[in-house]
Formats: sequence, structure tokens, C-alpha cells
Amino acid sequence: MKIPTISIPITQIPLQKNIQLFLKREDLIHTHISGNKYWKLFYNINSYIDQNPANLFIITFGGAFSNHIAAVAALGKEFQLKTLGIIRGDELQDKWQENPTLKLAHQNGMDFRFVSREEYKNKEKLTQILEKEFPHALIIPEGGTNKDAVEGIKFMLTEETKRFDYLCSAVGTGGTIAGISKFAKENQKILGFKVVDDQSLYNKVSELSTKNNFELIEAHDGKYGKITDENIRFINDFKQKYRIQLDPIYTGKMMKKLFELIEEDYFPAGTKILAFHTGGLQGISGANELLKKQNRRLIDIN
Ligand SMILES: Cc1ncc(COP(=O)(O)O)c(C=O)c1O
Repeated sequence: MKIPTISIPITQIPLQKNIQLFLKREDLIHTHISGNKYWKLFYNINSYIDQNPANLFIITFGGAFSNHIAAVAALGKEFQLKTLGIIRGDELQDKWQENPTLKLAHQNGMDFRFVSREEYKNKEKLTQILEKEFPHALIIPEGGTNKDAVEGIKFMLTEETKRFDYLCSAVGTGGTIAGISKFAKENQKILGFKVVDDQSLYNKVSELSTKNNFELIEAHDGKYGKITDENIRFINDFKQKYRIQLDPIYTGKMMKKLFELIEEDYFPAGTKILAFHTGGLQGISGANELLKKQNRRLIDIN
């Protein structure tokens, strides 16, 4: 069974200003294979299935709360593929059951190998070892970003998305925004909201996209994964007002920064903006557990 293409609704976010803002709800694809993950894995996995119809085995990398790990595990279950997650942090070896992302990934059939943070940094070496051990496996990089992933992002762009002046997405490893940039129409401007403080991202996106129609905007609050009280307030207010759940690591940060830009009149009157809701909602329960331990306000989920 191969991964099918799916069509996704676009919802308007009504604003008081003369700016039209819409969200493309890639988060609705699937609870755990949501948004950009689905499309980044689309060609990677389908071409692997074409080449290896038997003994399908997928290996990938991620941190303890990774949306990508959650997506690969859920995809494995859905499409009967064996999966192995190489997880950052050997301290998790004995307590991964306490982590909601890893617990669910395991329920979805994923096995784990925990590696030290030091070892994890050298993914090239880790990949070489894995290639020797599992010569028939498909090894997908952290965050799923590679050339096939960029190609898969073209399915996020449709006839309907052509009418927007700006296309926006959160940026982690850069594959999603590279795909949007590569497949956008010539007159469209692309804004990537960086949730990680990585200065090498511009060159990486540029290389993957082969275009320079994009701009990257800092939206990371200093560090990847940092959840400020303002982020939580914004996500909860947004949910109350528009009945749409955002996540605290990617889409919440993008929308908060996008609202600030709209407020500062960054966009000329009449601009039509489309932001992609790339999912990540599985990360909320893990985030709330951390917030609970810190006696802080939680992200509303009902
Ligand atoms: C919810 C969500 N949004 C956006 C991104 C950013 O995607 P990319 O890593 O391709 O930049 C990710 C990471 O895959 C993600 O999990």
C-alpha cells in the first residue's frame, strides 16, 4: 500500500485590518502524520516501497518530542512498515515510557536506539554504521529534510494557493519552506518563520529550493523549543477566538510573529496571506507535562 495524495481545506482568519489571512489546514491530514511531515515523507517512502516491496524497514532520527518521529511511527503502522527511531539522549533509555511522543511511537510499532547527545551530533557517522548494519533500510535524515522531501511539498501548493501574495510556513530543518519556495508561482513571496536559531538555514534552503524568492524571519525566542508565557497566551487566545489549535514549537510561533508583522503594517493594505498549518499538535501533551512541572499555565486542548 502506498501513501495517497489528499486535498486540504483553506480557512480564513478574520482580521480587523485590510489584510486577508488564511490558514491551509495540513494539520487535518492525520492526527500524527500531520502537515508537512506527510508530504516530506511522501516520495521518500513511496519510491522506497516501489524498489523494495518486501522487508520494508525505515530508520530515522529525532529528539524525545519530535513530530517527525511521531509521524514516521504512525506512518509505519498505517502502511505496515517496520520502523526504528534513533533518539537523542541516552538518559531516556530507562524512562522513555514517561514521554508521550515516544510512548505513542512505540505503541505504533517503532523500536528505539538511544544515543548520547555527543554521538547524535555526528549523524554522518551514525548513518554509516546503520547503513552497514541494515543495508536494505531506508534511512531518512532528522526532520525528514532531503531532496525527495522538498519535491513532496509541491502537493501543499494547489490551484487555490495561487491567488495568495504571500505563502508562510514555520522553519525547522528548512525542507518545507524550500519546497514552497521551489513550487510557488513567480509573483508569490515566501516567508519562513525560523523556530531555530540556525544561521546556516538560509544557504541550506536556497540550495534545496534553487530559488531566492524567500525571506527567513526569526521567530525562535532565542532557542529551539523554548515556550514562553506569551507563546502560551497567544495559542490559547487564538484557540478561543478562531477555534483552531496551534502547537507551541512551530505553528504557534509562526502565527504570533505573523500577527506582529500584520500589526506593524509590514504588509501593504489588501495583501492576501496564506499560512500553512503544518501540524505538530502531538507535541502539546509533552509540552504540558513540562509546564505542569514548572507550575506554569498550560496549553488549552479542549
Ligand atoms: C509542525 C511542524 N511545522 C514546521 C516544521 C518545519 O519543517 P522543516 O523542518 O521542513 O523546516 C516542522 C518540522 O518538521 C514541524 O514539525
